[in-house]
Amino acid sequence: MTVAITRQVSAAIGECELTHLPRALIDVDRARRQHHAYEQALVAQGCDVLSLPPQPELPDSVFVEDVAIVLDEIAVITRPGAQSRRSETLSVAEALTAYRRIWFVEAPGTLEGGDVLRLGNRLFVGLSGRSNQSGIMQLRAVAWPYGYTVSAVPVAGCLHLKSAVTQVADRMLLVNPQWVDASIFGQFTVIDVDPDEPYAANGLLVGDRLIYPASFPRTRLRLEAHGVTVVPVDVSELQKAEGAVTCCSLIVTASERP
Ligand code: GLY
Repeated sequence: MTVAITRQVSAAIGECELTHLPRALIDVDRARRQHHAYEQALVAQGCDVLSLPPQPELPDSVFVEDVAIVLDEIAVITRPGAQSRRSETLSVAEALTAYRRIWFVEAPGTLEGGDVLRLGNRLFVGLSGRSNQSGIMQLRAVAWPYGYTVSAVPVAGCLHLKSAVTQVADRMLLVNPQWVDASIFGQFTVIDVDPDEPYAANGLLVGDRLIYPASFPRTRLRLEAHGVTVVPVDVSELQKAEGAVTCCSLIVTASERP
């Protein structure tokens, strides 16, 4: 069973954190409809969606990916680099206790899940404005006993590592080469985003299908030319909050809690 933990859109999403985008008016009702359709796309891929209630006082709380790293054996609750996001962690930790033993990143570490790209037993962590060396070292200390390696990756020009690169199929990455050097990741087929779509590198692979923003048709053609099956979702309002499709869920392969 695969569980997708999501959180409904906050009424305050218009006051979200922004790093590389100018602020634009967000239609909250439209964002909620788009988020619901995203949840339905997860259901269609076979996920049980655990949709947590909205947190009206936490603008970015829909982006649950950033507050936890869910590995097969444990979950690491992050300490977001954005101060305004630190109160998002406890309720997600509570939800995850049903599935995993929990570890917490502590000060001075900062870490956000959007910076963590898992490729098998290798965890790549973006050294972004949100995740620091201490956070990466803490993740390494917790994860290595379970056989994971943890490597820091320079990333520039975007919010998180997974703004710049995601896995889109077995042995295949989608990359914005302006923001990250894909040679770091080893032997993968690399698809570059269309140069007119710099934000297009974030897709959510569930099983053998890619949940992917409808707003990047040129890059979608590149994906389909490589045999990727794309499930398009309209997330335009969430994109105004610098959100992407991986950010809006935590995918948990459910089993008895170890
Ligand atoms: N608005 C997403 C973030 O900055 O965390």
